Amino acid sequence: MKTTKLMQHSAVLAVTLATALGASAAGNGKADALFPPLAPLPPVPVPKDNPQTPEKIALGKQLYWDARLSGDGSMPCVSCHLPALGWGDGGQISRGYPGTKHWRNSQTILNSAYYNKLFWEGNVTSLEAQAPAAAEGAVAGNGDSSVMEMRLRFLPEYVESFRKVFGSEWPRINDAWRAIASYQRTVVSDGSKVPFDRFAKGDKKALSEAQQRGLAIFNGKAGCIQCHNGPLASDQKFHNLGLPDFEGFKTDPLYQVTHRWEHYQKGVSEPKYRGADMDYGLYFQTKNSKDIGKFRTPSLREVKYTGPYMHNGVFTTLEQVVDFYDAGGSAAPHKSELLKPLGLTAQEKADLVAFLDALSMTEPLIHDEPKLPGAYQPLPAPVK
Ligand code: HEC
Ligand code: HEC
Repeated sequence: MKTTKLMQHSAVLAVTLATALGASAAGNGKADALFPPLAPLPPVPVPKDNPQTPEKIALGKQLYWDARLSGDGSMPCVSCHLPALGWGDGGQISRGYPGTKHWRNSQTILNSAYYNKLFWEGNVTSLEAQAPAAAEGAVAGNGDSSVMEMRLRFLPEYVESFRKVFGSEWPRINDAWRAIASYQRTVVSDGSKVPFDRFAKGDKKALSEAQQRGLAIFNGKAGCIQCHNGPLASDQKFHNLGLPDFEGFKTDPLYQVTHRWEHYQKGVSEPKYRGADMDYGLYFQTKNSKDIGKFRTPSLREVKYTGPYMHNGVFTTLEQVVDFYDAGGSAAPHKSELLKPLGLTAQEKADLVAFLDALSMTEPLIHDEPKLPGAYQPLPAPVK
């Protein structure tokens, strides 16, 4: 019964979409353009080789909070992904490892379990692989794997938990990343608290009239659905929106150190690297100049709580974001052809923002800080 309703609803959405996009799609010469409709999230995907267990999730939660998994013991995952700040860090550009400046906005980890590519440039394909990249990254956790692993072995409570969860005599750092990944698979939207999801499941009162108008604009006149589609409201593809620059990058040498260093790390050729003053995004992966400035489409779920927005945090409100799209983006050289001036009225913009709110839970998802193992313990003296 439930399934039937849901299917009917998706069908209705798809038809509305086809009709709504008909005009502009034909104008683009893509008359068959049709996009997966927004829909409630399916159950969280879990890789076969890292099944969820309550003990593993609890261990992962501790490790996510534990600063001993970073270089100087001050930068746990949670320091840049705080529950009370939409699981990001609330800044335009993320805080960096002490003594450094980061260069990108801290993404929310909410619903990151649903992506098949992680990071703004999509360069990592699983949460298990993402965690070490974060904990070891020089401007993030800056930890050395073997040192972090050794630290875990001097914390008897972890030795005990790792043995229970992974059956190993001593904690292994790769298992720490697996546990953190499992924990992150629990940091997902609760659909029963998301007005859009309730609406899509048949509760017609879950969206206000303004929000319903906003949904139609999202799917139609504003064409947001072209890239923000499917249950996650992301096509998981890469686009260049031609965003304004983050001003600090032009004037602050510490930001410039990070940009130059990132370009160098990512194998950019010397002439380009010498002039490195912007974040090339997907280009770092492909070295194809068509990909300069392309970033992975982020989900629009929970955006109520996750500002500032965009890879460089240039917008602090959803109103600013909508104004930017309404203007058709800026005049950047490689800007996506999908962005055109929209001619939205003030009412339509307000409706669109009201709808974006409906993609977030009515109250933020908060997890309390777990109790962490106490101080390091010396090893017992060897038996003679
Ligand atoms: C110094 C701040 C900082 C720390 C510490 C940090 N992160 Fe992040 N995190 C970021 C930033 C900034 C990004 C975006 C980076 C990029 O795209 O290059 C990010 C991206 C992510 C993403 C990708 C989300 C997406 O939508 O693709 C996940 C997942 C994540 N971090 C988890 C973690 C975990 C797990 C840890 C601890 C092991 C951690 N982070 C530590 C700042 C941090
Ligand atoms: C051409 C594809 C495309 C279209 C069309 C599009 N977006 Fe986006 N959207 C993106 C990409 C890509 C980003 C990230 C860009 C970046 O950071 O460089 C983004 C970012 C956003 C963000 C910021 C999310 C965050 O976590 O930082 C919001 C909000 C947003 N879009 C809303 C909309 C709305 C509303 C519309 C319709 C008016 C729309 N988008 C149309 C591709 C698109």
